[in-house]
Amino acid sequence: MTETITVHELAKISRQLILWNQHPAGSYVACPLFSHYGFSWLRDGSFIAYAMDIAGEKDSAGRFYEWVRRVLDRQRDRVEQLLHKHANGETIAQHEFLHTRYHLDGRDDDHSEWGHFQLDGYGAWLWGVAEHWKRTGIDELPESFRSSVELTIRYLCAFWKQPNFDCWEERNDQIHPSTLACIYGGLSSIHRFVHMPEIADVVNDIRLFLLKHCIHPEKKYFVKSIRPAADSNSYDIGFEGVDASLMWLAQPFQVFGVDHAIMNATLAELEARLKSADGGVRRYVGDEYYGGGEWILLTAWYGWIDYSAGQYEQAAESLQWIARQADAWGRLPEQVFHSLASKDTYEQWVHRWGTPATPLLWSHAMYLVLYSQLYG
Ligand code: BGC
Repeated sequence: MTETITVHELAKISRQLILWNQHPAGSYVACPLFSHYGFSWLRDGSFIAYAMDIAGEKDSAGRFYEWVRRVLDRQRDRVEQLLHKHANGETIAQHEFLHTRYHLDGRDDDHSEWGHFQLDGYGAWLWGVAEHWKRTGIDELPESFRSSVELTIRYLCAFWKQPNFDCWEERNDQIHPSTLACIYGGLSSIHRFVHMPEIADVVNDIRLFLLKHCIHPEKKYFVKSIRPAADSNSYDIGFEGVDASLMWLAQPFQVFGVDHAIMNATLAELEARLKSADGGVRRYVGDEYYGGGEWILLTAWYGWIDYSAGQYEQAAESLQWIARQADAWGRLPEQVFHSLASKDTYEQWVHRWGTPATPLLWSHAMYLVLYSQLYG
């Protein structure tokens, strides 16, 4: 850790690091120095591309979206089969769904130990590509993207209510409000480019679903996850606490504003349970991954929420906290160990996979997003 890197230097380093770690095919590696992260995730990648758009690196963002387009064009038959099975009411196993990450050249990753069925990245890419077109002055859906975009819309509209792994690649038997936020954000952003009638219905249904099923009965905040009940028409609480990814409901996907009562209560709970005294934000209480440390990208998100609520000083504190976590070269990790984390679990993970992923491109991206709010 060093104090010598300024917030401005860290912004330049972040942009450079992301550019250097973009594969010639257009994908962004999640982390170049951590073997389990040597893939490109649609989730990480869409937020990284968004940050690059904001940082003025529109070509880089465009290359990423072209890469996703090619990946999805190759998945067309698979999605058509899934939609066919769905229409016939056939059971679909989780491994049949689209994957969440791909090799950097776009090939399927069939061998990782983590679960693949995650819908959030597909929502995030629709949101990201729509943002990219808006920022680059494109008003109409580029014909070359029609097939991949419409395929993703049909896929999400058919399967949004299926339990799937959350954005941390856990709890695949549950439904996660932050995943629904990504789907909502993706469908609502892409709607100005594609006029499929089902989009408006599903966007509306997701919002109602969140209000009906995902609120803690007594504490009135959005919970981390819910699970289909045995009678299959109702839901039980899957995890009754909050998760920092619930911030996505407000920013950037705007399912609810920060002043919406339930969103407000969710953010208050998040601050009370997940923000540590020194300023970092962890994922959720009981997180075991590397002992449950403070995440750079979530701390940046927290600052982003503060900024959008007019709390500029607090937002700047989050930015400075992040800058203090950079190493001597300005590299940011995925997470840092802190006082509330479990030392034993941290060490078990270090023994298994090595020290936490550094540099994590998504951390650098979210730093750039917050930096551009404050200094852009
Ligand atoms: C995180 C995912 C992320 C992946 C690559 C995992 O540890 O839980 O959210 O997509 O790393 O960065």
